[in-house]
This record gives sequence, C-alpha cells and structure tokens, in this order.
Amino acid sequence: MQSTARLSYPTTSNAKILTVMPSSRLILPFTVAIFLVCILPSPAHALFGSKKKAAEKAGAILFRGKGCAHCHGVAGVGGKKAPALTNIRKNKVWTPAKMSDQILNGGHKMPPFSDSLTDQEVMQIIAYLRAKHKPVPPPAQTPEPAQ
Ligand code: HEC
Repeated sequence: MQSTARLSYPTTSNAKILTVMPSSRLILPFTVAIFLVCILPSPAHALFGSKKKAAEKAGAILFRGKGCAHCHGVAGVGGKKAPALTNIRKNKVWTPAKMSDQILNGGHKMPPFSDSLTDQEVMQIIAYLRAKHKPVPPPAQTPEPAQ
C-alpha cells in the first residue's frame, strides 16, 4: 500500500510538470515567431517604400514635363504666375483629393489638366508634391514636347 502511494505521488507531480513543460518549451518557438513577425514586414515596407519613391520620381518628371514648373517654378518653388507648392504637404487644407481636383479641373488662373493627365499621373504628381524630400528629375535627354 505504501509503495503504491509513493508511486502515485511522483506520477501526479510528473503530470503537473508535464503541463508546465510544453509552454516553457514553446518559449523558443514563440520568440522565433515574434522575431519573424517583427522582421517580416520590413521587406514589405521596403517594397511599398520603393513603389512610393518610384511614384514620386515619376511625378517629378511629369511636373516638369507637363508644364507645372512653367507657372509654379522649378520643383514648385513658386513664381510670378503661381504660388509655391514646396510646403503643400504640411498644408492641411490641400488634401490629396483637393489637389487632384485642382489639377484636373484647374482654378481661377490655373488651367485644367484632365485632358493631358491620366488618373495615375495625377496620383504621381501628388505623391511628388507631398514627398518629404522631393526627388530631382533626371536631366531631359531630348527636348520635351511642347504641351
Ligand atoms: C498657367 C499657370 C499654371 C500652370 C501651368 C499650373 N498651375 Fe497650379 N496654380 C496656378 C495658380 C495661379 C494657382 C493658384 C490658384 C488658382 O488660381 O487656381 C495654382 C494652384 C495650384 C495648386 C493649389 C495650391 C495653392 O496654394 O493654391 C496646386 C496643387 C497646383 N496648382 C498644382 C499644379 C500642377 C500639379 C500643375 C501641373 C499639372 C499646375 N499646377 C500647373 C497656376 C498654374
């Protein structure tokens, strides 16, 4: 009888240990999983970031090529004909939607561009105007066709 009691005691405590053990054994896989979750979005972010950069660069080329710079100055620094657009990203009034409306439909003195720009091009110009560091367009290889 005594021996049975002795045997059953270690068995229950083993069972208790076993219920604890799997979770402590899971610590390593958990750490690895959390680590992976932390690093996995980085390539996705890099991809998204480079897509954004590509849009900003395309916008920089369009801004010059489509004649925006003619009124708004090179890189949108402003000129006699139109206001500066350099700080428009900080201007809460000029939401992307409002900018898109201004570009497509024009304003008081600004002509509409709905005929000469696609939706994607408008989006690229807005990405350029909203860029923290505006990319400098590469020098034009051939003279730009007149708009
Ligand atoms: C003929 C000159 C002219 C051209 C070309 C021009 N704009 Fe404008 N733009 C203006 C003027 C003037 C304003 C001020 C509001 C108005 O009169 O519509 C303005 C305003 C804006 C605004 C709103 C900012 C503000 O403070 O009013 C945005 C954004 C803008 N232009 C973007 C563009 C883009 C992008 C292009 C090229 C696709 C472009 N503009 C081409 C003259 C021009």
